[in-house]
Amino acid sequence: MMEEPHYHIPALLAETIEGMNIKPDGIYVDCTFGGGGHSAEILRKLGKTGKLLGFDQDEDAFNNIIKDERFTFVHSNFKYLKNFLKFHGIEKVDGILADLGVSFHHFDEAERGFSFRYDGELDMRMNQKSQLTAANVLNNYPEDKLADVFYLYGELHNSRKIARAIVSHRDKQSFKRIFDFVEVLKPFFSREKEKKDMARVFQALRIEVNQEMEVLKSLLNQCVEVLNKDGRLVVLTYHSLEDRLVKNYIRSGNFEGKLVKDFYGNVLAPMKAVNNKVIVAGEEEIAKNPRARSAKLRIATLNV
Ligand SMILES: C[S@@+](CC[C@H](N)C(=O)[O-])C[C@H]1O[C@@H](n2cnc3c(N)ncnc32)[C@H](O)[C@@H]1O
Repeated sequence: MMEEPHYHIPALLAETIEGMNIKPDGIYVDCTFGGGGHSAEILRKLGKTGKLLGFDQDEDAFNNIIKDERFTFVHSNFKYLKNFLKFHGIEKVDGILADLGVSFHHFDEAERGFSFRYDGELDMRMNQKSQLTAANVLNNYPEDKLADVFYLYGELHNSRKIARAIVSHRDKQSFKRIFDFVEVLKPFFSREKEKKDMARVFQALRIEVNQEMEVLKSLLNQCVEVLNKDGRLVVLTYHSLEDRLVKNYIRSGNFEGKLVKDFYGNVLAPMKAVNNKVIVAGEEEIAKNPRARSAKLRIATLNV
């Protein structure tokens, strides 16, 4: 089934599947198919009449398609969830999984440009056909917009200085390769914190290139409309910005976390949490899969 054994190792696999509460004849969506690890497990729990749709915007995920008549691969951004459900004649679903961000495959392929460890193209697009690349952002964004990207999505306190250095570099020579960018960043970080801070800069750029916060918001809003009454929304996030959005949305129905109450003091939110405390990986899983360290799992259902 999986052509590349290390395309991805799914995080919190058992906890995620348990959170989906799979009914054998239900209809499920895996918004982030990737290497198909979570999908394969969902299919294992489904009966003959169950269905699974797996979305991925990356054409590399085609190599992992599961040959099973209950499975349909959708090569698209999950922000088009409702449209594709309609296209496939599906009105409501019993569970939606989103295992956000990139896969190991993205980090490990130098030419995809996601990792500061390799000198690839400054690309970072999950969808190879989209227009905006990391090089476009670095070479064309105004200085204040660059600073906002690093501050908002990387939570970097020296974001203005970094943006200034990017602009003065590109005035002489435009950015093409990862290591051009890494050299400009190096003076800003201490030896001890270099890896951590580089990772934040790269995360920020990746979020911007793929418009990750916007598509997540769009997905959450659509889930409320397409989930069955006792359906489940299961979301795995890997950084605090995403987790905050998901947590706020589940708690309050908005992304700011502003609680709106009725006359009797009941919170008016379209969803409610199934697990009040966020689920994280245990030491044993982290030892086997260090990238599971930052995974946070939240499960919700409709508030009806
Ligand atoms: C963390 S990996 C998921 C791994 C998967 N759960 C597994 O078991 O292999 C995230 C995957 O979702 C895809 N992805 C991320 N954002 C997406 C979006 N907005 N629309 C469609 N696919 C997306 C990425 O291309 C990547 O393959």
